[in-house]
Amino acid sequence: MIHASCTPAVSIIGGTGGFGGALALRLASVGVAVAIGSRDAGRAAAAAAALEERLERPGLVVGYDNPTAAGAASIVCLSVPLVAHLDTLRAIRRALRPEAIVVDNTAPLATALGGRPTRVVGLWAGSAAEEARAALPATVRVLAAFHTIAEQTLADLCKPVGEDVLICGDDADAKQALAALVERMPGARAVDVGRLEMARYVEPLPALLISINRRYRCHVGIRLTGLPEGPLTGA
Ligand SMILES: NC(=O)c1ccc[n+]([C@@H]2O[C@H](COP(=O)([O-])OP(=O)(O)OC[C@H]3O[C@@H](n4cnc5c(N)ncnc54)[C@H](OP(=O)(O)O)[C@@H]3O)[C@@H](O)[C@H]2O)c1
Repeated sequence: MIHASCTPAVSIIGGTGGFGGALALRLASVGVAVAIGSRDAGRAAAAAAALEERLERPGLVVGYDNPTAAGAASIVCLSVPLVAHLDTLRAIRRALRPEAIVVDNTAPLATALGGRPTRVVGLWAGSAAEEARAALPATVRVLAAFHTIAEQTLADLCKPVGEDVLICGDDADAKQALAALVERMPGARAVDVGRLEMARYVEPLPALLISINRRYRCHVGIRLTGLPEGPLTGA
């Protein structure tokens, strides 16, 4: 286990993976202390050490097992494949702080069932984020965000993010807290797209983006036009 010199502001469950690792790297690059979670504490420590090597400032990334990471920060990003979604929620639910903000980025792509990444599967709750809502204690604030940002975009520290982060949720304070975190990343803009149930429309967007990526051999993202200037969350 690596001991970060700073208290984590954010934990990333599944931070050993492609997206979670890239988000941890990008956040730590702007001074945010991050705890990486894994089913295996040793794997988390190794992933944290690898990220630390890419950072100018040491001591910002720590690795823990998933429950320890879940209890270590007030913002907990959940970044695991759909097949692992419910099991992971069950593994961390008791460890979360009572008023934790859980940010779910799950895209319900058909790859979870051996299908194509350009298709999605239907979920009984309407969306993965709503499944998370049902699985977690009522005091925990659940948001859905980050679905449309590719790990490659986050991991390329030479370029600003330059994309919108679409945030769904029912708690205005939680959305503001996530927006403040998002906007620490250069070029990232937080956009409040409404209640948690709007995740039903945001979660499938990666299937669309993947189809475009395949045609143009790139990693596209989303930047909305026509929005007013100024803070876009908390309405
Ligand atoms: N990749 C992207 O660009 C991107 C973009 C937007 C949204 N997303 C979403 O982000 C989430 C993670 O994507 P990813 O590409 O980072 O996934 P990934 O690398 O395949 O997996 C992330 C982590 O989840 C854990 N995990 C994997 N399979 C598991 C299983 N069967 N049971 C329990 N834990 C398991 C692993 O951590 P440990 O083995 O260390 O526990 C793994 O490192 C997905 O829901 C995806 O839809 C991804």
